Amino acid sequence: MTPIRLIVQSERTRYPVIIGAGVSRQLPALLRAYGLDGQRLVVSAAPIWRRHGARLRLTGADAVTRPALIADGERAKTLETVAQLYDACLARALDRSAVVVAVGGGVVGDTAGFAAASYLRGIRLVQVPTTLLAQVDSSVGGKVGVNLPVGKNLVGAFHPASLVVCDPELLVTLSRRELRSGLYEVVKYGVIASRPLFTRVARDLDAILACDPDVLTPIVAACCRIKARVVGADEREGGVRRILNFGHTVGHALEALTDYGRFRHGEAIGYGMLAAARLSVVRGTMTPADESRLTALIARMGALPPVDDLDAFDALDVIAHDKKVVRGRLHFVLARGIGQTTIANDVRPRELVAAMRHIGLCAGRTTRRH
Ligand SMILES: NC(=O)c1ccc[n+]([C@@H]2O[C@H](COP(=O)([O-])OP(=O)(O)OC[C@H]3O[C@@H](n4cnc5c(N)ncnc54)[C@H](O)[C@@H]3O)[C@@H](O)[C@H]2O)c1
Ligand SMILES: [Zn+2]
Repeated sequence: MTPIRLIVQSERTRYPVIIGAGVSRQLPALLRAYGLDGQRLVVSAAPIWRRHGARLRLTGADAVTRPALIADGERAKTLETVAQLYDACLARALDRSAVVVAVGGGVVGDTAGFAAASYLRGIRLVQVPTTLLAQVDSSVGGKVGVNLPVGKNLVGAFHPASLVVCDPELLVTLSRRELRSGLYEVVKYGVIASRPLFTRVARDLDAILACDPDVLTPIVAACCRIKARVVGADEREGGVRRILNFGHTVGHALEALTDYGRFRHGEAIGYGMLAAARLSVVRGTMTPADESRLTALIARMGALPPVDDLDAFDALDVIAHDKKVVRGRLHFVLARGIGQTTIANDVRPRELVAAMRHIGLCAGRTTRRH
C-alpha cells in the first residue's frame, strides 16, 4: 500500500506526516527526500531501540552515529535527561543544520523534542512515534517539553517536527495495555470530530486489538488528519485546540489523584470521556443512545482500573486548580452527539460531581459544600 501523506499547516509551520505499514524501513530515503540528512542525533530508549532500531537503518557501527538512549518511561521526562541530550549533541559536534530524530513513545518525543527546541536555540526535529498514543497525538502538533518534580509538562516549547513518520507495524510489539491506552485517544477523535471514525473503531475493534497494521493505518491517518486540522487552525491552544481536551478534565484529575501510578493516560481519558458524555446528556447536547454507544465501545475495549475508592469531591478540588480554569470559570468540552463538540463555560461543581459519581467515583465527603 502506498503511504498516506498529510500536511500539517499553520500560520508558522508546514510539515508532512507520512503514515503507512512498513514506512519506517524507508526512513533514510525519507530523510534524504526532505533534506533532513546529514548530521543527526537519534534518540530512543533501550526497550524500543532493541526491538526496532535495526529496521530504521539509521546508525552505523561507529560511535558518532550510535543513538542516545534515554531511560524508559515517564520518569525519564526530566531536565536532567535533556541535559544528557545536550551532552550527546556536543559530543557529536552538532551544528545548527543538524537534526534530532526521536524514535519512541510520547516520552522520547517530548524530551528529545525539547532538547531539539533549545539546543543552539533550536535545531530540526523528526518524529518516529512508536506507540499508538504518540502516532495519533504527541508527535503531531508541535508541543514538546518535560516534567518538573512538582508537576507534569511544566517546561516546554512549541517546536513542530520537520517530518513525522508513523509506521503502524512498529506497534505490533506494544503491550495490549499500551495499545489500548492509545486507542482511547482514537475514540476521542471519533467523538469530537468524526462519527465514521468512531463507527470504524467499533466495527474493527478485534483487528485493532490484534494490531493489524492494514487496519490501523487508515485509523492513524484519520486521527492525524483531525489533529492536523485542529492545530493548523489554532497552534497555541486559545480556541479550537481546546476540543482535543475532551475527556481530559476528569481524566487528568483521576491521574493526579492516584499520583500517575494507577492509570495509563488513555485509561483515565476513557473514564473522562464517560463523565463528559454523561454531562453532555444531562445538558441535552448528546442523546442517551449515543452515550450508550460510547459506553459500550469503552466496555468492549477491556476493563479499566477501579475508581470506586476515589472521591468525586477530591477530584473536583484537583479540577478547580487545573489550568483549564480561566478566571474562575471551568471551560468544559461537551459532546454534541458523536462527531461534534460544544464548549460549556458554566458547568457547576454539583453537575460535575454527579457525572463523576455516575462513572463510579464515591462521594465520601458529601457534607462538604461546593
Ligand atoms: N506533546 C504532546 O502533544 C503530547 C500529547 C499527548 C501525550 N504526551 C506525552 O506523551 C507521554 C506518554 O506517551 P506514551 O503513552 O507513548 O508513553 P511512553 O513514551 O512512556 O511509552 C510507553 C511504554 O511503551 C514502550 N514502547 C514504546 N514503543 C514501543 C514499541 N513499539 N513496542 C514495545 N514497547 C514500546 C516504552 O518503552 C514505554 O515503556 C506523556 O509524557 C504525555 O505527557 C504529549
Ligand atoms: Zn490525552
